[in-house]
Amino acid sequence: TPLLEPQSSPTSNAVASTPSSAPTTHRRLLAWVSEVVELTQPADVRWCDGSDAEWDELTAELIASGTLVQLDPQAKPNSFYARTDPSDVARVEDRTFICSVDPADAGPTNNWMDPTQMKSVMTDLYRGSMRGRTMYVVPFCMGPIDAEHPMFGVEITDSAYVAVSMKIMTRMGAEPLAAMTANGDADFVPCLHSVGAPLEPGQSDVPWPCSDTKYITHFPEERLIWSYGSGYGGNSLLGKKCYSLRIASVIGRDEGWLAEHMLILKLISPAGRAYHIAAAFPSACGKTNLAMIQPTIPGWRVETLGDDIAWMRFGADGRLYATNPEYGLFGVAPGTGWGTNPNAMRTIDRGNSLFTNVALTDHGDVWWEGISEVTPPHLADWRGNSWVPGEATTPAAHPNSRFCTPIRQCPILSSDYDNPAGVPIDAIIFGGRRKTTVPLVTQARDWQHGVFMGATLSSETTAAATGAVGVVRRDPMAMLPFIGYHAGDYFGHWLEVGKQHDAANLPAVFYVNWFRRSADGGFLWPGFGENSRVLKWVIERIEGKAAAVETPIGYAPTAGSLDVTGLDITEAEVAAALEVDVDEWRAELPLIEDWFAQIGDKVPTELLTELDVLRGRLGG
Ligand code: GDP
Ligand code: PGA
Ligand code: MN
Ligand code: MN
Repeated sequence: TPLLEPQSSPTSNAVASTPSSAPTTHRRLLAWVSEVVELTQPADVRWCDGSDAEWDELTAELIASGTLVQLDPQAKPNSFYARTDPSDVARVEDRTFICSVDPADAGPTNNWMDPTQMKSVMTDLYRGSMRGRTMYVVPFCMGPIDAEHPMFGVEITDSAYVAVSMKIMTRMGAEPLAAMTANGDADFVPCLHSVGAPLEPGQSDVPWPCSDTKYITHFPEERLIWSYGSGYGGNSLLGKKCYSLRIASVIGRDEGWLAEHMLILKLISPAGRAYHIAAAFPSACGKTNLAMIQPTIPGWRVETLGDDIAWMRFGADGRLYATNPEYGLFGVAPGTGWGTNPNAMRTIDRGNSLFTNVALTDHGDVWWEGISEVTPPHLADWRGNSWVPGEATTPAAHPNSRFCTPIRQCPILSSDYDNPAGVPIDAIIFGGRRKTTVPLVTQARDWQHGVFMGATLSSETTAAATGAVGVVRRDPMAMLPFIGYHAGDYFGHWLEVGKQHDAANLPAVFYVNWFRRSADGGFLWPGFGENSRVLKWVIERIEGKAAAVETPIGYAPTAGSLDVTGLDITEAEVAAALEVDVDEWRAELPLIEDWFAQIGDKVPTELLTELDVLRGRLGG
């Protein structure tokens, strides 16, 4: 069945012809490209090969159209700066849909529309939506191309900014395209994207075309993605959140693996033993920082594998192996500096990067809050307005401004990064941003308790999504906006993969909070590189060396088992960071009950049992 309704009469005579120049014989791909050309009516079609020459050409065009500014090559070689439309700065969760055939499969945490109805609405929007623009065909692969089952995708987009961003964020271009036909026509996930801003003859373009009407939609049964109206990050780089989390979580449910919102790191102890940790924190809650942490404790070393997404499958030995499907980092800029995340600074200093919605210095370099101790005397802020410290009333960089940079430039990248087999995970860490209640670190009693911790994870909302900031919400496994199916089924899937494997081989599960505050409002824990002390405790728990006390919510460090040597912190402050406050947790119980009630009768009984156990331990 065709993915798009055929369009009878072209409304413009400047419509590109295809596939005469197409560099592939892949029949389904060629048919799909032809359908999209007919529907969207682009002025031109360009098949992206991912070459440096193509990058030079597209970035030059983006400079000419006012979308990009080239940064001073002395400061940031081959790097560019973009300002979005002020209305297009973050993921739009309220415009994101899971269009499963049965609404019950989308569940209560996703927006749903009937797939036929959604396709009809969006087909009308796409009709002629690329008029006057070039349509880019962007073949890509999530994860290594030499994987046993390479995970191909093709994004069709009318945004050159998206095309160049995809070169950074995915294995993109001629190589994945050739691999797609190497052993017969391979499956791929079609990802259709339009900014929804056609240009009529003579109409001049704006620097950041987009539409007030936005749809980010997923058809899980068809493994299909349609996005319309936004040019920003997770809304438009469809290999990332849409494919590698929402669609991949559905594939993982069907095939017995996990697609998770997790960083992956390798931690090497002073004794030279290597461990691998995967950690799930909601957007803008510390994944990129922890992924490339520079430990402050002597003898410990970290290598990076991924900072946002982990695909995890069980190996023949019964252990859980993780790979990072991405090729780049799309990191939160504000707060990133030499004192907090020096490895991110080293990565972007190598150039070849895109910066979006940060501030611009008078010398053609980027700047954001937290990058340096000194604020330049004058900046252009993310809206393009003149910005002077002391006078300005808003931050110079948007709180969700981002750097987009090749992960290969990370100086501590693990040599296992390209290994299609992945790395064996010893510990899973869940974490959120909570001013109160959630202590610095606790350990789950077992897998089932760990799944309960993840399923009830809570965090304050951030600028990574549109909407209010600082509102506490449940964000299960940090996947609330990314689970491509029913959240209750997702919890069941987590429990099931645990049951199918030997408990001794399963990762130990922990829950952290770097963001607890003292009465005066300051952070109780210094965070960043000092989080290595918590990682050390995690490893020593696995090794059976670190002591813990059992609390109502799990195992917590004893006074003295968390290494705070050399840290400028009082015993009382450490105790406050670690405290399990029974009253605060009693107040949490009705919130967890509400949350499970919201998920409904698909909440696995194991998790209801865990809730009863927690209630009992809290004496409530
Ligand atoms: P991600 O979106 O989950 O990858 O989060 P990031 O690592 O980009 O961090 C988001 C924001 O939280 C940035 O402004 C960081 O500077 C800040 N952050 C990260 N880790 C810590 C920490 O340990 N303590 C504190 N206080 N802030 C942190
Ligand atoms: P991050 O990723 O904020 O988790 O780094 C981007 C996003 O979730 O929108
Ligand atoms: Mn993310
Ligand atoms: Mn990040």
